Amino acid sequence: MSELVKRYTASVDFDKRMWRQDVRASLAHARMLARQGIIPASDLADIQRGMAQIVAEIEAGVFEWSLDLEDVHLNIEKRLTTLVGDAGKRLHTGRSRNDQVATDIRLYLRDSIDDIQVLLTQFQSNLLDLAEREAATPMPGFTHLQVAQPITFGHHLLAWFEMTRRDGERLADVRRRTNCLPLGAAALAGTTYAIDREFVAAELGFEGVCENSLDAVSDRDFAIEFCAASAILMMHFSRMSEELVLWMNPRFAFVRIADRFCTGSSIMPQKKNPDVAELARGKTGRVYGHLTALLTLMKGQPLAYNKDNQEDKEPLFDAVDTVTDTLRIYAEMISGVSARPDNMREALRQGFATATDLADYLTRKGLPFRDAHEAVGLAVRRAEELGVDLPQLSLAELQSFSPLVSEDIFPVLTVEGSLASRNHLGGTSPDQVRAAIVRARGRL
Ligand code: ARG
Repeated sequence: MSELVKRYTASVDFDKRMWRQDVRASLAHARMLARQGIIPASDLADIQRGMAQIVAEIEAGVFEWSLDLEDVHLNIEKRLTTLVGDAGKRLHTGRSRNDQVATDIRLYLRDSIDDIQVLLTQFQSNLLDLAEREAATPMPGFTHLQVAQPITFGHHLLAWFEMTRRDGERLADVRRRTNCLPLGAAALAGTTYAIDREFVAAELGFEGVCENSLDAVSDRDFAIEFCAASAILMMHFSRMSEELVLWMNPRFAFVRIADRFCTGSSIMPQKKNPDVAELARGKTGRVYGHLTALLTLMKGQPLAYNKDNQEDKEPLFDAVDTVTDTLRIYAEMISGVSARPDNMREALRQGFATATDLADYLTRKGLPFRDAHEAVGLAVRRAEELGVDLPQLSLAELQSFSPLVSEDIFPVLTVEGSLASRNHLGGTSPDQVRAAIVRARGRL
């Protein structure tokens, strides 16, 4: 093999990150072999002793990874054989690297999903703390990025919570299908030894065994699903990022983000840039790319295993890293976000955010909604001419647009009145927001 081919075909540089999973799966396989009488108990003891040393060497950073040994599996097996002799050579009985690598990736992804769920929960918990502090803080809700109606900042943050809650559910679902044991499929057709796959599955915490040996070694749909769930998760964080960037812009000035998550400019001394949010938005693209890479990797492969599958790891690992880093930093950053309520309120005023409340009021008094809509449109134009918000118009002025208006209009037109009136499940009233936070905490 030429140096070039060796480098082209080797994967150890990136698959060595699965070494813990590789050792764990090999030990479970060895215990099964001994239990079934396929290898003697003394071999199992030797394998366990050798693996313990290998773990110590890797942890100490003294294990020598060799490109000549292609991948993480051969590197560890070769070292084991050097350490314990024939017992190391018997480890691969009834197994192939094809079912070995499929097992390692599934274990790795399962571990990664568990880590990601912890970080996601941390983010959500900090998000709920912020939502609770801002449960009654009025801000404009937007449609078409134009001021629409008053909402509370807490309500807006709870929308983020709902988005990420579904992300967590999707990941839990991916985990369930990932958590199946390929070992026993061997190269593709199963093995002639009297193996016990259920035992290995139980040892490794798998919920079941892959039921077809060809499928077990060849499909990477679980990795694709993870990238799909991750792509959606990153899409959500990208949207949050976009909002944070907008809100930090002085024209909005709705929030402050703690300095430690922002950077300055090398030329403009006054700049404070929301880099973390921008990067999260930018990194979303690479996760979409990994999803496309894996789908494309899979689509042309005949059954069963093909070396193409070695290309599953870098996209998958980078998706794991990107999601993990994004969640870790967002969990901290969300605690460093604070509202600027005065600016939010000023935007509400300029946007005539309670216009719909006036229309609803007239409708309640018997005017058909479409007529109410028209009357309020005229009232807004008048307020704009006078440079005031709707509640600042006099009673006489308001009555000129509809005789149905009386004194009781004024509490309706205040931001607080508008918020309080949207008092149903899923609505933005501070009471509903606080109730939603209680429900959300219960789900964490
Ligand atoms: N490094 C390989 C991979 O990542 C392991 C399996 C190789 N199997 C084989 N028969 N060459 O897929």
